[in-house]
Amino acid sequence: MNASRIEQPADLDVVRTSYDRVADNYVEMNLGDITTYPWLRTAIDGFAAAVHDLGPVLDVGCGPGDMTAYLAERGLDISGVDLSARMIDHARRLHPNQRFAVASATDLDLADSSLGGILGWFSLFNLPRRILPQVLMSFGQALVPGGHLIIGTHMGDGDLERTEAYGAVPVTWTTYLWQPDDLWVLLAAAGLDPVAELRLSQSVAGVPSLVLVAQRANH
Ligand SMILES: C[S@@+](CC[C@H](N)C(=O)[O-])C[C@H]1O[C@@H](n2cnc3c(N)ncnc32)[C@H](O)[C@@H]1O
Repeated sequence: MNASRIEQPADLDVVRTSYDRVADNYVEMNLGDITTYPWLRTAIDGFAAAVHDLGPVLDVGCGPGDMTAYLAERGLDISGVDLSARMIDHARRLHPNQRFAVASATDLDLADSSLGGILGWFSLFNLPRRILPQVLMSFGQALVPGGHLIIGTHMGDGDLERTEAYGAVPVTWTTYLWQPDDLWVLLAAAGLDPVAELRLSQSVAGVPSLVLVAQRANH
């Protein structure tokens, strides 16, 4: 995959700076702890079982790495990347046995058919609507046949312009809300077949949430 073919979001630096700013509170508020969300945890456990024997797994937008560590404990060969250096500082401090790197989902240079699983766990909703399809395309190519992608994101219509987050810390980012059918279209274009869909009416971060699992076709 030639990562240079993915357009870089115009607001990438502003989004990065915003996550650097909220990272301490994000950790303090323990927001990455999957064990506090029983339905999300069920989906993640299913993903872990599905990709267990398929090869390396990449947690894209891993934040402070709690999910990366949770899945490593379940036997996955996993590493995490995140746009925010401050998030990765926390990840390395909290989970010193795991592998983390600073990188944008738009600039990963993933080798074709190199990953058994990819997570975009509440980390792709800042990608502009024109750019998310390019990132999903790169994920589709990076998965081995039968490999799985799991996405967690905020469900709805339109865009939310966020000016504060995680304890009223000033931020500048857009949260792009998605309807499942629209995401499925993008996933199909990326060569990914539907596996599972979970809609959560109970809010995560103030809006309903959505989990989609898709699989690279075996043919
Ligand atoms: C809501 S947090 C979720 C973190 C983690 N996945 C979790 O569940 O705790 C969103 C994360 O996505 C990261 N992020 C946002 N845009 C990104 C991008 N273009 N590439 C990589 N990470 C990104 C942020 O830095 C932040 O750590």
